[in-house]
Amino acid sequence: MKKILIIGSNGQLGTELLTSLRDKYGSKNVISSDINDPSNKDAYFEKIDAREALSLTSIVEKYKINHIYHLAAILSANGELNPILSWELNMKTLLNVLELGRKGIIERIFWPSSIAVFGRDAPKDYTGQNAVTNPSTVYGISKLAGEKWCQYYFEKFGVDVRSIRYPGLISHKAQPGGGTTDYAIDIFFKAISGKSYDCFLHEDTSLPMMYIDDAVKGALMLMEAPSQKLSIRTSYNLNATSFSPAELTAEIKKHIDGLRVQYKPDYRQLIAETWPRSIDDESARSDWGWKEAFGLPQITSEMISALRMKK
Ligand code: NAD
Ligand code: SER
Repeated sequence: MKKILIIGSNGQLGTELLTSLRDKYGSKNVISSDINDPSNKDAYFEKIDAREALSLTSIVEKYKINHIYHLAAILSANGELNPILSWELNMKTLLNVLELGRKGIIERIFWPSSIAVFGRDAPKDYTGQNAVTNPSTVYGISKLAGEKWCQYYFEKFGVDVRSIRYPGLISHKAQPGGGTTDYAIDIFFKAISGKSYDCFLHEDTSLPMMYIDDAVKGALMLMEAPSQKLSIRTSYNLNATSFSPAELTAEIKKHIDGLRVQYKPDYRQLIAETWPRSIDDESARSDWGWKEAFGLPQITSEMISALRMKK
């Protein structure tokens, strides 16, 4: 019987992963947790600061948890505003979770990395699994170090930790957590409310992106894959689509003609310029059968119809 703990369940990815995991395994078998209280009442929620190893261990023991989805992190843009806190949070929480694996308390761990591990020296297009990694943000540095720790714990101690380098995730249920790709969510909220949008990236800055349903599907597929199929124990490249703010604006205008966008690049433009434009994810496709379902037109119509229903 799987007993799952999600750490960071109130966030953009956690909100949707929680629903999918509870649909699959039953509510009482999927414990949600976060440093903040959830917006809706949740009988299986525990408030924890995952930097505190003892409180984390006590929750894991209380519910006899065997799988952890560890999502708590400070993302790229917010990370640059507080580098030391980001490093401390991103690394300490991961090491606490990996230690639970080393001690044999936890059987399997999912931990997301990011396209932020690459950097200005990697090829921009179809960036490969083993392309050079030279990140320039504290977030990217913490994800790269985290990937290496995951591989180390797997090789030294046999900890079954699995990871995906997500592109920018697009969703409508929870607000994005302070990343460089957040514009691609903010713009939908402005478009739906009839307001103009000040985009913090340049109109031609193309980045890899993924709809949240694909992101959740990828996590579940990777966690269910037989261990012997997995050739990557740092983190898998995962691709869905790529687009620029101008391309996204044009797609939204097919549904909402009146959208007006001004481009006012800020410090996040400099981060985006160091990231890949597109990703080669051949290993994920051949090792565990990855295939995305959502391209730009599908993402756009899903986002607009979901936000129209909320109005
Ligand atoms: P988010 O910021 O929306 O959510 C993170 C959650 O962690 C928040 O609810 C926050 O309250 C919680 N948290 C923060 N500190 C905590 C602590 N000390 N203890 C417990 N909980 C704490 O982030 P997200 O977008 O849901 O991202 C989830 C994971 O996926 C992160 O590791 C992120 O780096 C990764 N990722 C996200 C994206 C994306 O576009 N959203 C892309 C690549 C990778
Ligand atoms: N979407 C994330 C960010 O912008 C990438 O990890 O930080």
